[in-house]
Amino acid sequence: MPTQDIVTLDKIVALCKRRGLIFPASEIYGGIANTYDYGHYGVLLKRNVIDAWWDAMLQDRDDIVALDSAIIQNPRTWEASGHVGGFTDPLVDCRSCNQRFRADHVNPDEICPAKATLPKDQDRRHDFTEAREFNLMFETTVGPVKDTGSTVYLRPETAQGIFLDFKTVLTFARRRPPFGIAQVGKSFRNEITPGNFIFRTLEFEQMEMEFFVPPEQAPEWYDHWKAARLQWYVDLGIRPDHLRLRDHDPDELSHYSSGTADVEYDYPGTMGWSELEGIANRGDFDLTAHAKASGKDIEVVEPDGRRYVPHVIEPAAGVGRALLSFLIDAYDEEQVADGDVRTVLKLHPRLAPVKVAVLPLVKKDGQPDLAREVQAKLKPLMQTEYDEGGSIGKRYRRQDEIGTPWCVTIDHESLENRTVTVRDRDSLAQERVAIDDLPGLFATRLASPWTSPKLKG
Ligand code: GAP
Repeated sequence: MPTQDIVTLDKIVALCKRRGLIFPASEIYGGIANTYDYGHYGVLLKRNVIDAWWDAMLQDRDDIVALDSAIIQNPRTWEASGHVGGFTDPLVDCRSCNQRFRADHVNPDEICPAKATLPKDQDRRHDFTEAREFNLMFETTVGPVKDTGSTVYLRPETAQGIFLDFKTVLTFARRRPPFGIAQVGKSFRNEITPGNFIFRTLEFEQMEMEFFVPPEQAPEWYDHWKAARLQWYVDLGIRPDHLRLRDHDPDELSHYSSGTADVEYDYPGTMGWSELEGIANRGDFDLTAHAKASGKDIEVVEPDGRRYVPHVIEPAAGVGRALLSFLIDAYDEEQVADGDVRTVLKLHPRLAPVKVAVLPLVKKDGQPDLAREVQAKLKPLMQTEYDEGGSIGKRYRRQDEIGTPWCVTIDHESLENRTVTVRDRDSLAQERVAIDDLPGLFATRLASPWTSPKLKG
């Protein structure tokens, strides 16, 4: 059955909580809206998503360098970038219940909680104020006294740090356009619309790359990055029919953009096609704005004397959104014996939090010792987990739910001839393998191209 018919956001939220991947932050105090914490498997999965992105940017190419810029920058950054003036959502307040809504997201038929007890023939809808623009940046103050000049902002995108450092990087990286600067880090936005789990949160990690090109090359690089970024998700196991590229209409464009396309994912339920990543042609907007505001020269000088302000193509992805789509696309439920249901995350092995679980069949007869020995062989190569608690069936199910591609089981035969069974998460096939062959086997499998078992039918 196609995943989108089985999976719901509620099931993903429940699985993430049950297995400790992702859960509401500050839960003992009742939580805080649109804010989540990542537990052990969530951290491992997130790290794998970020690593896969870094590899696509750095290891697989040699025209991109890395950067890690500060979250709090000189506040003039955000004036020049247009964020102080223009990074706003139109908000309306309900005069009856005092709740705040995004004007472009309000449902005119929604019943106001303050009027819910009124008889049905009376107007029970919200009584909205006129829309006002509300800046999405979080403000804080630097220093012990809150006075003028001490206000700073938590960055709403990592991109600006890259523009501020452009000239410095150009010098020490000994590069000339076309080349890119990539960065991964937290960004912050005072979002008030319901978040749909980790789809929209107050703080979130971005994976952004600014690719600087001679102006006349911008169109071809824009096309290149649109295709490359879509393919990245496919290569990591998302089914192509759940992905699409959508060009923004002119009235949707951000203040800095002369062209933007979104990679969209077909999320389940009411979310439907929603933005996973944006690829923008930012032109010379940012570099020119910072050159003007700072009075510093930001031009590139070619050996032939040509001077120009590069144009920028920007693929900007969210770690949380990518991770959520990988989870949704991997989620499956299968009927097994006795009418039971097996819940399994068919994640790309590269993304799986744990690659191999090592399980002694019983907690005696030397099996745990041999299992520890097997784990020790695999540890230098990949993330492993040892588990000896509970029935073997329950342990397999636990690993299925966190997406572990292979389980190695040590049984009585293992002690006799140093072989183990390797169980495949997707096919459920079990094969007998010599312990000494395990590192080579898993290293080969991890390095091999992978196709979602759902695509295979
Ligand atoms: N530098 C360009 C930029 O920030 P954006 O479309 O506003 O563009 C890029 O953000 C990506 O960051 C989005 O496609 C999304 O994946 C992620 N993102 C943005 N706001 C988010 C939020 N509140 N929560 C989670 N992810 C978010």
